[in-house]
Amino acid sequence: MHDFHYLNGELICEKVKVNDIASQSKTPLYLYSRKTVSDHYRKLNTAFSSIPHLICYSLKANSNIYLLKLLAEMEAGADVTSGGELFKALLSGIAPGKIVYAGVGKTQDEITYALNKGILMFNVESIQELHLINEIAGRMKKKAAVAIRVNPDVEVETHAYIRTGKSEDKFGLTIDIADNIFKKRDSFHNVELKGVHLHIGSQITSVTPFTESIRKVVGFIEALNFELKWLNIGGGLGIIYRDEKPSTAEEFAQAVIPLVKERGLKIILEPGRFIVGNAGILVTKVLYVKESGSRTFIVVDAGMNDLIRPSLYGAYHEIKPVQMRESEEIAADIVGPICETGDFFARDRKILKVKSGDFLAIFSAGAYGFSMASTYNSRPRCSEFLVEGDKFRLIREREQYEDLIRGEIY
Ligand code: LLP
Repeated sequence: MHDFHYLNGELICEKVKVNDIASQSKTPLYLYSRKTVSDHYRKLNTAFSSIPHLICYSLKANSNIYLLKLLAEMEAGADVTSGGELFKALLSGIAPGKIVYAGVGKTQDEITYALNKGILMFNVESIQELHLINEIAGRMKKKAAVAIRVNPDVEVETHAYIRTGKSEDKFGLTIDIADNIFKKRDSFHNVELKGVHLHIGSQITSVTPFTESIRKVVGFIEALNFELKWLNIGGGLGIIYRDEKPSTAEEFAQAVIPLVKERGLKIILEPGRFIVGNAGILVTKVLYVKESGSRTFIVVDAGMNDLIRPSLYGAYHEIKPVQMRESEEIAADIVGPICETGDFFARDRKILKVKSGDFLAIFSAGAYGFSMASTYNSRPRCSEFLVEGDKFRLIREREQYEDLIRGEIY
């Protein structure tokens, strides 16, 4: 499933001791396994090999250019949600004709940029946006390819902040509105309606909401009586953080393929977390172990600015010492140096006894880890490393203090 394991109490990534990297570099640092990334991509690709499909990796999960280049080499496309992500996808060599662009707030500049680059299609989230794309494409004497993002209004079990497929969520359009757009398609002269897009949320472990929403949308497409080429079923496949039992790529494909196979549609998938989530860890050093009140606090050198998921979503991440030297377990709060009580990675967590100077690994941090990092508390963003077999390489330098003031006018 992933390429991190313990050997005689020592954490190994592929064939490299994590301690060797951590002790040679400044912490905190992100560490990814190249093999896990490519294995996960291949798993999904193979699972869908019996139908025409395109995997558009969702850059928001992790947009390190080295990783993107790796995915580009495997012929992945990209799901982008900003001009910046489009820039990075193109820079990494992902073909423009394999890039889809979603998001409720695309700006004029972003639309113009994407049209200039000739992306595969926009996933349109409002009529206002469709008018704007039509107008800009007209000015540019181009035809803009679009899919309409449908909000299927299905129940999805995940954190409320990352659920996107209920009618009260800001994403997409109801089937009725989408239907109206297709009926009025002739009034959008510079737009070519090519598909329908769905994305119902993230970290979804059951296939049911996916199949339910795909059924709804396929029914809608059939009733349209209009030739559509693409059905984009979005991302959202869940991974194991603790004891979840997410459906495998194989199970997911087996549930989805029969619903779309005979329809002559080409499928787009937009996985993010599934590809990179378990391919990365955040390595941090214990600064202090302090007792206060009735609690033990393990203060580490990573903070919520490096990995915000526990603070923002109450997300669980497994945390273990990089070298397990002790056998005694304690219960502790594992906290960062930032001046907020919300700056924690775990609370009242059982962990093997550690001391100042030890390294801890925070697991399943490859997705929405670095990509959500900030410089809050004026903390430079940390470095990123990639393990490739028995070698490792730096794929992003740690920021310097000077980076913190770049662009500031004083
Ligand atoms: N496609 C669209 C249109 C999306 O909005 C997203 C994620 C994806 C694909 C990829 O979803 P994935 O396969 O990674 O679940 N920061 C949150 C997750 C936010 C997801 C936003 N959209 C977290 O840390 O859990």
